[in-house]
Amino acid sequence: MRKIVIEGGNKLYGSIKIQGAKNSVLPLLSASILNEGISVFQNVPNISDVAAAMKILRHIGCTAELSGGALTVDASVISTTEIPDGLMREMRSSVIFLGAILARCGEVTLSYPGGCELGPRPIDMHIKALRELGADIHEDAGKIRCIIPAGRRLIGRRIDFRGPSVGATENAMIASVFAQGTTVIANAAKEPEIWDLQMYLRKLGADIEGAGTSVITVRGIDTCAMNVTHTIIPDRIVTGTYLCAVAAAGGEVLLTDCGPTHIESLLTVLRGWGCEINTSKTSIHIKTAAPRTASGSVVAEPYPAFPTDAAPTLVAAASAVSGNFVFVEKIFSERFKYCRELEKLGAEITLFENSAMVSGGKALCGASVDATDLRGGAALAVAGLCASGITEIGEIQHIERGYEDLVRDLRSVGANIMYMNTPERSESAGAAKRTEKPDGAGGGQGRLYA
Ligand code: EPZ
Repeated sequence: MRKIVIEGGNKLYGSIKIQGAKNSVLPLLSASILNEGISVFQNVPNISDVAAAMKILRHIGCTAELSGGALTVDASVISTTEIPDGLMREMRSSVIFLGAILARCGEVTLSYPGGCELGPRPIDMHIKALRELGADIHEDAGKIRCIIPAGRRLIGRRIDFRGPSVGATENAMIASVFAQGTTVIANAAKEPEIWDLQMYLRKLGADIEGAGTSVITVRGIDTCAMNVTHTIIPDRIVTGTYLCAVAAAGGEVLLTDCGPTHIESLLTVLRGWGCEINTSKTSIHIKTAAPRTASGSVVAEPYPAFPTDAAPTLVAAASAVSGNFVFVEKIFSERFKYCRELEKLGAEITLFENSAMVSGGKALCGASVDATDLRGGAALAVAGLCASGITEIGEIQHIERGYEDLVRDLRSVGANIMYMNTPERSESAGAAKRTEKPDGAGGGQGRLYA
C-alpha cells in the first residue's frame, strides 16, 4: 500500500505552480457532451477524479485523451445513455453528467450516487430542476432514469432552488442549453467554477449570463458543433492548501498560476494570523516573518463565504500555531471526521455539533494516520509538516482524487516528504520499501528523506 511519509520541521521556501481546478474540469467534461465538435481543455489536473470522468465519457461513446495537461474530447458520437454502477461508484460527483446526457440524447440512466465521507449527498435539487424543465423522472432499485417525452424538448422556465447547490446549478445550466425558450435559475451557486462553466458554454454558442450572481439566465439553442479550446481556472482549494502549509510550517513561498480573488476569505484569515501576503493577478506571495497567532473563527458557507473545502487544512494550521480558532460548518454533516486523525498527531480539537474549536500551539508529534477524505487527507499532510518525527499517512487514494502530486509540490519547496510503498496489512511485516516516483522525485537514497 502506498503511503505519504513526512519528517516534520522544515520551513518552506520556493514557488509552486497551482494546478487546474478539479471542481471546474468535472462539470466542463460533462458539458462537453453537448458539443458535436471537438473540445480541448487546457490546464487539466492529472488527478484520479479526471481519470474517472474520462472513463464515463469513453463509456458513453466519446473519445477523451489527456496529454501534457490538455484533455481533448470528441463527443460527436454518443452510443449509450446509461452510466453503470461501477463507474458511478468511482466518482461520487458523477451526478454532474445527468443534465448533459439528458439534453444531448433525450434520456439518461444512472445509479444513485452514494453518500461519501462527508455525509449524505442528496440530489433532490438536481432532480427538481430536470423535472421542472419537463423531464419524466423514474426512480427505482437505486437507479434514476430521466426521459424527455418523445418528440418534445425540455421547456425553459424559472427554477427556484431552496439554497445554492454547486452541482444542481451546473446540471440546470447544462440541461437548459437546448431547452425551448428561456430558463432562469434562481438562488444559483456563485462559485468561480460556475463562471468557468458559463464561459465554456458560451464558446459552444450557448446564450447564457449571470454566473457569479444568484440568478443565471439561459436562452435555449438547437445544437452545438464547435471546435473550441478552453483553459480551466486554477484550483482555489489546492491554493488554500499550500497557503495553510506555509502558515503552519513557516517560510516564504510564491504560488503562481493561481486566482487570488477566488480565495480572498482565506487570505483575510491568514493575514489576521500575522502572515504577510501580497498578491498579483495570478500569484500569491506568503511569508511568515513573525510567529502566527490563530484567533477568531470562520463559518463555512456557500461562495463567496469561506469555502468548506478549505477548512480542513486551516484546522491543521490552527493546530500548529498558537491561539484558539473556531470553525463552524454549514455544508456537510461529516466534515470534521479527519479531526480524530489530527488528534493522533497531538492536535487539540473540541467538536460540538457542527463546530470545531482548535486550541493551537500544542507540540505536534509524528504518528501513523489515515486520510478520511480528500481535504482531510491534505490536512494530515499540513500537520505532518509541523510534527516532530515521522508522520505516515495511509489511504492516500483520497488525496489523489484532487491533488495532482502533493508530495512533488511540497517537496519542491523543501518539505521532507515522500511516497513509500509499505507491505499490505496482510503481507509479512517486512521493512517499508522506498519508492521512486516515475520522475525520480521519490525517496532517493541515503537518509530516508534526503
Ligand atoms: C461541490 O459539491 C464540490 N464538488 C464540493 O467539493 C464542495 O465541497 C461543494 O460543492 C460545496 O462547495 C464538486 O464541485 C465536484 P452542493 P456539490 O450541491 O455540488 C446539499 C471537494 O472536496 N444538497 O453545493 O455536491 C448538500 O447536501 C468537494 O472538492 C441537497 O440537499 O455540493 C450540501 O449540504 C467536496 N440536495 C449543500 O446542498 C441537492 O440536490 C451544498 O452542496 C444538492 C445538494
